[in-house]
Amino acid sequence: MKLLEVNNLKKIYSSRFGGNQVQALSNVSFSVEKGEYVAIMGESGSGKTTLLNILASLDKPTSGEILLQGKNIVAIKESEITAFRRENLGFVFQDFNLLDTFSLKDNIFLPLVLSRKSYGEMEKRLKPIAEKLGIEDILEKFPYEVSGGQKQRAAVARALITDPQLILADEPTGALDSKSTDQLLKLFSEINNEGQTIVMVTHSTKAASHAGRVLFIKDGEVFHQLYRGSMSKEEMFEKISNTLTVITTGGAANE
Ligand SMILES: Nc1ncnc2c1ncn2[C@@H]1O[C@H](COP(=O)(O)OP(=O)(O)OP(=O)(O)O)[C@@H](O)[C@H]1O
Ligand SMILES: [Mg+2]
Repeated sequence: MKLLEVNNLKKIYSSRFGGNQVQALSNVSFSVEKGEYVAIMGESGSGKTTLLNILASLDKPTSGEILLQGKNIVAIKESEITAFRRENLGFVFQDFNLLDTFSLKDNIFLPLVLSRKSYGEMEKRLKPIAEKLGIEDILEKFPYEVSGGQKQRAAVARALITDPQLILADEPTGALDSKSTDQLLKLFSEINNEGQTIVMVTHSTKAASHAGRVLFIKDGEVFHQLYRGSMSKEEMFEKISNTLTVITTGGAANE
């Protein structure tokens, strides 16, 4: 079943007085099945964050449509967007985006507080997630009291606690050391194996090699796709590296 369908997405940024125009996305189309784990790669400036922000309904495309379970999210009324995002999407960012004055637990509860869930319900949902992420013992701590890897796990807990249709991640391992990166990637694979759909923007070949499919963006379009299929992570890593070489040196991807 198709969870997400992106059709002919175009994004032109224009400066306030209409002078300079930047075409960040020229014509992006792809779809994501429920339960897929998709990585998006591309050179700096190729439009990855632009695409993710539009998928996250933080920004509007110049034209094109995005269907999430058949509903065109581009057309959602401004007044309904915040609730829509909270109820359907989970976010994981490079810089964690935790509130410094809230404990990890209160950060994780925040989306549920905003949708007026009871305290009992919040605790009930947190328990299995905190266990899986190994953060039960640090829930009362504040972000400045824990490591980057622990902050990111709290951010993943916050994304998961609303049971979203889709998790969107922009460079989730970008600020992590290699051990925390490995832990986060393992975690993403686990939650994906349990059925969670994930779309992750990354510069990291290693991170992308965990995904089931990698989309490569170039010149504002989907340039190439790689399916992992029965390949091992090592084989996938090799294929991704080769494709990135093709992208940066020009020429066509013919594998
Ligand atoms: N708010 C904005 N106003 C004008 N131009 C923008 C804006 N945001 C991005 N751009 C331009 O759009 C293009 C795509 O930018 P985007 O941030 O999506 O790239 P990216 O693939 O995420 O790059 P990186 O890998 O460096 O994060 C770039 O040319 C960028 O300068
Ligand atoms: Mg970016």
